[in-house]
Amino acid sequence: MADEPLILGIETSCDETGVGIVRGHTLLADALASSVEEHARFGGVVPEVASRAHLEAIVPTMDRALSEAGVTLADIDAIAVTSGPGLAGALLVGVAAAKGYALAAEKPVYGVNHLAAHVAVDTLEHGPLPEPAIALLVSGGHSSLLLVDDLARGVTPLGATIDDAAGEAFDKVARLLGLPFPGGPPIDREARAGDAAAIAFPRGLTAAKDLAAHRYDFSFSGLKTAVARWVEARQRAGEPVPVADVAASFQEAVCDVLTTKALAACRANGIETLVIGGGVAANSRLRALAEQRAEKYGIRVRVPRPKLCTDNGAMVAALGSHLVAAGVAPSRLDLPADSALPLTTVSV
Ligand code: KG4
Ligand code: ZN
Repeated sequence: MADEPLILGIETSCDETGVGIVRGHTLLADALASSVEEHARFGGVVPEVASRAHLEAIVPTMDRALSEAGVTLADIDAIAVTSGPGLAGALLVGVAAAKGYALAAEKPVYGVNHLAAHVAVDTLEHGPLPEPAIALLVSGGHSSLLLVDDLARGVTPLGATIDDAAGEAFDKVARLLGLPFPGGPPIDREARAGDAAAIAFPRGLTAAKDLAAHRYDFSFSGLKTAVARWVEARQRAGEPVPVADVAASFQEAVCDVLTTKALAACRANGIETLVIGGGVAANSRLRALAEQRAEKYGIRVRVPRPKLCTDNGAMVAALGSHLVAAGVAPSRLDLPADSALPLTTVSV
């Protein structure tokens, strides 16, 4: 609706410079500049390289988003920006830019949580999120299960990874299979030609003895080590590594655990909506398995399209829009870039 507020969102927490513009739940622009290729040869994101790339990209990306949406800065009602968590130097670029634009154009500014934004982005595709919902957040830096009772004011963490994040496991396993960084997309691709039942890789924290203390927690480091040992044994024996089968079997282990625990959280809390967000939510097997298993319990799975799952500015704008609609007060102009912003803080 034309009378809903026009919100601009800025994202710079990792290696993507994103500026998105939304009106209510309608996406008008989603401009993105990625430094991922500059990090590829290091096999992971280099913070200094990311910060510099954000500095170079932020103004052109901002201009591109405004022109894509056909609006000017003066038309914007509020600016939202990722305040944390993320890389300190990278976050600073976005926060400083948001403050500059907000001050120059006399607009309110909302410093928001990157992880809550990964949940909020789904509203751009599927409309308002029924609350309470369970959210499964799986990215390169985080893997968490949350109870979302009021996305504008706070979420309740149910569990999280005790070691590697799910995306990190994809990136590390891809590396040992000789696949490029980031590892999620090439593993997803390879796995399509592989047999997911070829190798029985471990499912971390699913044994009865672990469930008592870690019902909704995840562990992917043992899985990563098991894949490494399996591949090394093959190589030592002088046998070829069946990359597609390893990729499929590894991916199956991750998706099995993620969907089992997320659906258990829904059922234990009597919740009928599961929303999945973060870069790993782009995984085709995770999406299919979640849908297939949820159907049995009458649980609705909401996953945004892959482009909205990985980091972008639209997700920040979507959360900003939700905060404005809920009547949450803007942040102070001295809002921080907080690399360790807790999951429970939706806006600063
Ligand atoms: O949310 P995101 O873009 O950035 C962070 O906040 O971390 O997530 C990036 C992560 C990377 O680890 C990448 O390998 C993973 O998401 N990823 C995927 C897929 N696409 C991206 N993992 C599995 N399957 C995919 N299709
Ligand atoms: Zn992210």
